[in-house]
Amino acid sequence: MTVMYQDDLKTVLYTEAEIAARVAELGARISRDYEGKSIALVGVLNGAVVFLADLMRAITVPVHVDMVAISSYGSYSSTSGVARIMKDLDNSVESQHVLIVEDIVDTGLTLNYLVDYMRARNPASVKVAAMLSKPSQHRVKVQVDYLGFEVPDEFVVGYGLDFAQRYRNLPCIAVLKPEIYAGPDTPPTL
Ligand code: IMP
Repeated sequence: MTVMYQDDLKTVLYTEAEIAARVAELGARISRDYEGKSIALVGVLNGAVVFLADLMRAITVPVHVDMVAISSYGSYSSTSGVARIMKDLDNSVESQHVLIVEDIVDTGLTLNYLVDYMRARNPASVKVAAMLSKPSQHRVKVQVDYLGFEVPDEFVVGYGLDFAQRYRNLPCIAVLKPEIYAGPDTPPTL
């Protein structure tokens, strides 16, 4: 089978079918946990759009959808932890059950910032769904309530995740060949 962008990829970690099965499981768990309630899904642009689109259709309780965009400063190897909201919520989340939908938790700094940001808006609750997590890279403790998969400490693309805005439409999740993002001393800037 030919995989899109095949020459740029080192290995496929999760196929389209494996991702679909995992997202269905997460959706079923979320639907059980929030039975009788509605959820304010907050997707993080741009990486989480694919996961959000699939996850919301696997959830059987009512949802509202809002999006935020965050910029973080610093390089891949030394994220400063300084984050800024580039696009804020369009609707209030006061008294709502917020479920943040993120693509990948790397250092955890972005998510940490976002959880605090949401909590300050007086929601009924705040939880987190993340498609991927790189546990070896976490610098702060972040609670991910609904996790798709753990991945090794390598640069991954596909299923919404990019490098330099490419690969987001790859249906699987794959490790990018290091030579694509240049030499060993210049890892990608996130
Ligand atoms: P954190 O603040 O270090 O946890 O960074 C989280 C953000 O960095 C994610 O939302 C992604 O946009 C980006 N990121 C981290 N690791 C990767 C990766 O392996 N591939 C693509 N994007 C990544």
